[in-house]
Amino acid sequence: MENIIINGGRPLYGNVTINGMKNAALPVICACILNEEPCIIDNIPPVSDIEILLDILVSMGASVQRLSKTSVEINCKHIIPCSSTNEMAVKLRGSSYLLGAEFGRFGKASVFSPGGCSIGARPLDLHMKGFEALGATCGFKGGRIEVESERGPIGSSIYFDKVSVGATANMILASVLADGVTVIENAAREPHIVDLAVFLNACGANITGAGTSVIKVKGVEKLHGCRYAIIPDMIEAGTFMAAVAATSGKVTVKNVIPKHLEAVSAKLEEAGATVIVGDDYITVESNGKLKGVSIVTQPYPGFATDMQPQFSAMLCFAEGTSDVVENIFNSRFLFTDELNKMGANIKVDGNHAVIRGGAALSGAPLFCHDLRAGAAMVIAALASEGESTISGIDKIERGYYDIVGKFEKLGANIQKKEVKTDEQSYTSLSV
Ligand code: EPZ
Repeated sequence: MENIIINGGRPLYGNVTINGMKNAALPVICACILNEEPCIIDNIPPVSDIEILLDILVSMGASVQRLSKTSVEINCKHIIPCSSTNEMAVKLRGSSYLLGAEFGRFGKASVFSPGGCSIGARPLDLHMKGFEALGATCGFKGGRIEVESERGPIGSSIYFDKVSVGATANMILASVLADGVTVIENAAREPHIVDLAVFLNACGANITGAGTSVIKVKGVEKLHGCRYAIIPDMIEAGTFMAAVAATSGKVTVKNVIPKHLEAVSAKLEEAGATVIVGDDYITVESNGKLKGVSIVTQPYPGFATDMQPQFSAMLCFAEGTSDVVENIFNSRFLFTDELNKMGANIKVDGNHAVIRGGAALSGAPLFCHDLRAGAAMVIAALASEGESTISGIDKIERGYYDIVGKFEKLGANIQKKEVKTDEQSYTSLSV
């Protein structure tokens, strides 16, 4: 096991290059199941969630060839539907996309109830309602979700009463090869939904409206292979931007789509940082003197729930009071107990946190129980005086490639250190 050790209080300077977006790569990789020809996917982030998903495809009979650290050729011609194992699928939420892709190509799907970060209830009722609208029978059997229709998916109208990234992506996957036209209303508008549609269209699909709340999918007979690059990770970029604002310094995040970061940039400017936007880069400059702001998480283009923990950490260093309302996941404030151990003053009541900022924080042993919470702890530790030890860092590595190396290059005093299991245990008790 490894921990991250940070001696905080150093400003950050330089450039950091952002990797491809994990949450865009997951559905695109699953979309390869719909295709009998090979696809080359570039700009894949080399993070553990992606490695696990690629392993799942291999275990199901796909051929996966590494062309480089960030490029992979996937051939799903001989994949066997319903064959993913419980042990592998439970490791990540992204395995839920196997349902849409298997059902879309084979008319049947079966996946063990997908795992993912512990951030609150993560039901699949919207996914199941959607599959049923496409003519499937859905149910749980032995912990597995089973979706089946003798005739395969039939185009239909689907209205979601809640915006869901996962359910929208699954309906796109399920309807690309369907008989007829599918209309998805109140669809998620996230950039990763657009990325999935652009990838599938490049393979011959007929999808319009992605990026708006009404997506239309005209079923096509088959797809063909293509080469496609995943969009940059707006959450990784936003994490570095929040870190610079909290610690002070000047950093350019490169390889970004600035439009995807509008909500983040606007909040940073409101908090007092300087944000300079280029074509494919954003520079953030901060003297560390921030003021409190209010944040309300919402589906895109609102402020992303995946940026809430990192901004909450940053706001501990801002003068005044910040209100943070978390509207998407009901347990996404668990990390605040860890920040309070560092001297932060965060009071949580349901989905509302009040952060009284401005007090000096000091390093502490911290335990990370989910991906973005881990990123928040890294930011808090970088901006605090003294040493912090973060354990449970496998959660961080699910979605951030080389976070330690990237912060080190920006001037942070940060390193990974191997620890024995008995040294680890005291921090694990704090969950
Ligand atoms: C995706 O999760 C992301 N995961 C999450 O990122 C992200 O936080 C989330 O979208 C919101 O942007 C992946 O892309 C793998 P949802 P997903 O369905 O699809 C409710 C990260 O840190 N809901 O958009 O599971 C749900 O409870 C992760 O990278 C239902 O009620 O999220 C939530 O309140 C964490 N029924 C809301 O909808 C359903 O059937 C939005 O969830 C499905 C969802």
